[in-house]
Amino acid sequence: MADILQNVMDHAVAVARKAGEVVREALSDDRKVMTKSSAVDLVTQTDQKVEDLIIQSVKEKFPQHRFIGEESVAAGEPSILTDDPTWIIDPIDGTTNFVHAFPFIAISIGFTINKRVEVGVVYSCLEDKMFTARRGRGAFCNGEPLQVSDQTDVHRSIIATEFGSNRDPEVVDKIFSSLRNILSLPVHGVRGAGTAAVNLSLVASGCVEAYYEMGMHVWDIAAGSLLVLEAGGVVMDVDGGDADLMSRRILAANNRSVALQLVEHIAPYRPDRDDAP
Ligand code: IPD
Repeated sequence: MADILQNVMDHAVAVARKAGEVVREALSDDRKVMTKSSAVDLVTQTDQKVEDLIIQSVKEKFPQHRFIGEESVAAGEPSILTDDPTWIIDPIDGTTNFVHAFPFIAISIGFTINKRVEVGVVYSCLEDKMFTARRGRGAFCNGEPLQVSDQTDVHRSIIATEFGSNRDPEVVDKIFSSLRNILSLPVHGVRGAGTAAVNLSLVASGCVEAYYEMGMHVWDIAAGSLLVLEAGGVVMDVDGGDADLMSRRILAANNRSVALQLVEHIAPYRPDRDDAP
């Protein structure tokens, strides 16, 4: 098992770096933008090209492994997490950022066995930061160990969140209700990088104390959630219950105390699960 996981890590890092090159080059081309679940849920040919590149290279090296990839699921592939070794891929996390050249874009690759993330790689390709984690072996950025912030008071914290791409009025109301509650605590600040994977790597790096969102997908958070755990943080549901990768809800924090102070102020809602029939 140990060697397989090291091989997986090495391959994920190599292919994420290659994917990052493709993304950086594509930034100087015209970007043809299409939409998916809503008028603001964007996708480009580069998302599809990068996902193909990653999946093809993994298939050659690990022919028995399964995949859950953002663009494959959009094209009709199932999004079911099994106990089998599975690569969970977001070829461009931060597609809206990519379309607008807003400078945070990540390639996110998680690897699960028995539905548990064992390897996580997030490549923030414009910053050239390679975040890596293996269960039980710590989290790193460009080889340097990561440690979450030691702040225990939510009032002295920066909280990351996102608005997502669902514009249903009830969902927007919930998002603003959470935001209003949290801003008024008060907290030092609220931020959002426009990519869930980068938000999680910011928690793992100790730059922000927590990140929460409802509506993102398993491919946005699989890799980054392991970064947070391995940097000493916690990952749970927004109601304080156990984390569930397929639930499309996440609260990741530097510690339980900050997380539970936030739980009191988040207005929860339940998007359709990623594995909904
Ligand atoms: C999106 C980003 C964004 C988050 C959305 C995600 P994508 O991923 O992570 O920060 O708010 O919920 O869907 O579509 O750019 O891969």
